[in-house]
Amino acid sequence: MSAARLVLGIETSCDDTSVAVLEDGRTLRAHLIAAQDVHRLYGGVVPELASRAHLELLPKLVERALEEAKVRPADLTAIAVTHAPGLVGSLVVGVAFAKAWGAALGIPVIGVNHIEAHLHSASLEHGESPLPAVALIVSGGHTELVEVRGLGEYHWLGATLDDAAGEAYDKVAKRLGLGFPGGPVIDRLAPQGRADAFAFPRPMLDRPGFDFSFSGLKTAVANSLKGRGEPPYPEELVADVAASFQAAVVETLVGKSLRAVGHVGAKALSLGGGVACNRALRAALAEACGRRGIALRIPSPRLCADNAGMIALVGAWRLARGERSGPGLDAAASLEASGLPLG
Ligand code: KG4
Ligand code: ZN
Repeated sequence: MSAARLVLGIETSCDDTSVAVLEDGRTLRAHLIAAQDVHRLYGGVVPELASRAHLELLPKLVERALEEAKVRPADLTAIAVTHAPGLVGSLVVGVAFAKAWGAALGIPVIGVNHIEAHLHSASLEHGESPLPAVALIVSGGHTELVEVRGLGEYHWLGATLDDAAGEAYDKVAKRLGLGFPGGPVIDRLAPQGRADAFAFPRPMLDRPGFDFSFSGLKTAVANSLKGRGEPPYPEELVADVAASFQAAVVETLVGKSLRAVGHVGAKALSLGGGVACNRALRAALAEACGRRGIALRIPSPRLCADNAGMIALVGAWRLARGERSGPGLDAAASLEASGLPLG
């Protein structure tokens, strides 16, 4: 796919402020991601604090990224910015910044859908995907299984009916007294526990279709801790719960993803979102895809989580097709309101 030449990418949809400079849709000349630590104090993302931190961080990150890329503002060809979905107060910071810079520099601005960017983030390292492909997006806010037939050609296969996969990790970790975000801690502790210590459910795996549901699993974990008081718990118990919980999540995600691959006749499976950093999930998918001859495309951890590189990539592709956003570009909180075909 052809791409615009020097694109400044901006991502401020949740609690990571990120800026990228992408050349020819391929080379990341600079890529900065500032995770906002302040939310750890509250055990979750506080929207008001997130938008304030974006306001403070974004101008500094843009300046630094341009310096690293050895690019002057006047050299930029276009700006790509996440406009949906996400926390609206956070999205607005990036969108307003992009529009102001676009107007000042006289260059086009394109609003990029955050989920669409996750669908393609693996292409930054793996090149363009063989098609059709299936993408599994698993983050703190999303659990989506999508058939990808090309840029903008998507068919939604399934999504979570309640908690997102990352949210389940975070809530289970909180219940175990492990802090926020929970995914990385559970990932680290699970290998020390017994995956068969608790028989947690594999939600919806036995039902047809591609939807997920993680709230029952979260409740099953809470029930297993009933009568054991509050954290801190003995290390062995924490490791056993972490291992059993993770085994249930991984088996569910792998089972549904491979069913989707078979249903679509996909040649590749792409991953995105923070939970795609999970080592057990990566290993299980590598094994399952290897056996079936399916190309597995998992970005490195930096590109799994929220990042401006993927925003710049999709922006560069869309700009090359002549697309651009007008002055009416605005932030939209929900996936449904974001204008992406959800068919
Ligand atoms: O994509 P992301 O950085 O932000 C959004 O939610 O948009 O994803 C963050 C989520 C959190 O729920 C976090 O606990 C989870 O990804 N996560 C992981 C791992 N690393 C991050 N979950 C499981 N295993 C991991 N290694
Ligand atoms: Zn995300």
